[in-house]
Amino acid sequence: MDQENQKTAIVTGAYGAIGFAIARKLAFLDYEVFLLGRNERRLEEAVATIQALKPDAKVWYELVDLSSLSSIKDLYKRWEGPLHILINNAATTPRERRTTNDGFELQFATNILGYFRMMHYFSEYMTGKKDARIVNVASSWAGDLDINDLQFEHRPYHNDLAYRQSKQANRMLTVAFAERLDNFGIAVNACHPRDVNSKLSNNLGYGGHESPETGAITPVWLATDPAGINYTGKYFENKQMVQCEFSKNKVAIEELYRYCRQFT
Ligand SMILES: NC(=O)c1ccc[n+]([C@@H]2O[C@H](COP(=O)([O-])OP(=O)(O)OC[C@H]3O[C@@H](n4cnc5c(N)ncnc54)[C@H](OP(=O)(O)O)[C@@H]3O)[C@@H](O)[C@H]2O)c1
Repeated sequence: MDQENQKTAIVTGAYGAIGFAIARKLAFLDYEVFLLGRNERRLEEAVATIQALKPDAKVWYELVDLSSLSSIKDLYKRWEGPLHILINNAATTPRERRTTNDGFELQFATNILGYFRMMHYFSEYMTGKKDARIVNVASSWAGDLDINDLQFEHRPYHNDLAYRQSKQANRMLTVAFAERLDNFGIAVNACHPRDVNSKLSNNLGYGGHESPETGAITPVWLATDPAGINYTGKYFENKQMVQCEFSKNKVAIEELYRYCRQFT
């Protein structure tokens, strides 16, 4: 990519199974890639691995705890822009109910607010950029969202239930942000990456049989393929648009948006 057409991408959860495969693919497509994560040693290793495979790769890392508002805001303030692609991918599935230092249930804070806050803050840097896109790595394994108990204060916590809820929220908030960012020229879509063996999936009691590289195909396609710009607010599996059952209830989507917005 020449200087003029150089595009910059952020990938969250970038040393995880699917996140690393996404970051590597983007680097091989000549994107400048910022790997985001909270473990500096693992970020350094991930960057070094990509650079060993492609010595001219433009890959960097940034430390951020995506469950923390202050950590995301710190990164937002030190970001020097520009930004064309944001891939929200980081997620967690702790077996016990855990809370962050600021008192949020951890899956809600990471998987829902983390995606929300990254879109809310970083879309500012994407405004007016040619072909700007946000991809939310969600899942086909989604449902049971309870707008009155998003943090499992009333229901018994189960990590699979909390995870399914969070992936439904990813898909609903994709619609909410797509509508808000359309006027700024930013496409926002969600996808299922396929079933990959990872820390996250193992915590839920299953080990997916697909490779991380396979898991990266649809997110990278949505972020980079010329066809991707024709869509916004949609949900994809295997590079195909799939009708999303959660996109129909606009009242619920707005309620969820408003609930999350108060924590930015
Ligand atoms: N694997 C599947 O079969 C599957 C299926 C459908 C959808 N997905 C989706 O794919 C995405 C990636 O999952 P994966 O399977 O690749 O899982 P993974 O290997 O466990 O990767 C998750 C990544 O998120 C990071 N992360 C978690 N909490 C964080 C925080 N507070 N701050 C910063 N980073 C944090 C993890 O870092 P740490 O190691 O430091 O925690 C890790 O790098 C998720 O959104 C998941 O819902 C996966």
